[in-house]
Amino acid sequence: MNLRRTLVQQFKQPQGLLGSLAGWVMTHRPSNRERNRLGVLGLELFEGATVLELGFGPGLAVEMALNGGAGKVAGLDHSSLMVKQAQRRNHKAQAQGRLDLRLGEVGRLPDFGCKFDRIYSANVVMFWPDPVQVFRDLKALLQPEGRILTALMPRNPKATDLDTAAWGERIVAWYQQAGFVRVQVQTLPLQPVATVYVTAWNY
Ligand SMILES: C[S@@+](CC[C@H](N)C(=O)[O-])C[C@H]1O[C@@H](n2cnc3c(N)ncnc32)[C@H](O)[C@@H]1O
Repeated sequence: MNLRRTLVQQFKQPQGLLGSLAGWVMTHRPSNRERNRLGVLGLELFEGATVLELGFGPGLAVEMALNGGAGKVAGLDHSSLMVKQAQRRNHKAQAQGRLDLRLGEVGRLPDFGCKFDRIYSANVVMFWPDPVQVFRDLKALLQPEGRILTALMPRNPKATDLDTAAWGERIVAWYQQAGFVRVQVQTLPLQPVATVYVTAWNY
């Protein structure tokens, strides 16, 4: 495996020393922070909202959602290292019983024991083997008035705004195949490349 593939793998499933480094990069890289800040803003959280995040990584957006009014944040990530980092970052919410971060695969969603007002993911959908099935499963976890937001900033070298637009179209098609009808695409001119935020309402 060449160096680039080894590093990319760390963003897909961080583990070991290199995984810790990937977690540090995700926490500190300005593009990552800004992408998540705007994503959580786009969720339009209300006081006490229940939020589920898929692929929460080091837990930046989890923290932002908790600070932004969410009553409870649940999440799923298949990296035990990221579960630990995200729990550490949000230990106060954990102690208050407002956090439910699980280790697992999006293809096999656990029973969180509730439905969610908002479901969020950022730069994760490209790793899912069957996005339509995942979105179908997630739709069943949304409250009747709930909504889902999927953010994506292409990170491949030489990515352009055209790649972002193509991702937007792909996500819309997946949402529609999963049964969502009301869908909105917003593209924001972030650095180093535009980011697409695709929202769907469960009604
Ligand atoms: C590129 S990181 C993004 C992390 C975070 N969303 C952020 O923006 O900082 C992708 C994260 O999704 C997780 N992930 C990737 N594929 C997954 C899957 N199939 N099931 C669960 N977690 C997954 C990885 O472990 C990693 O923490």
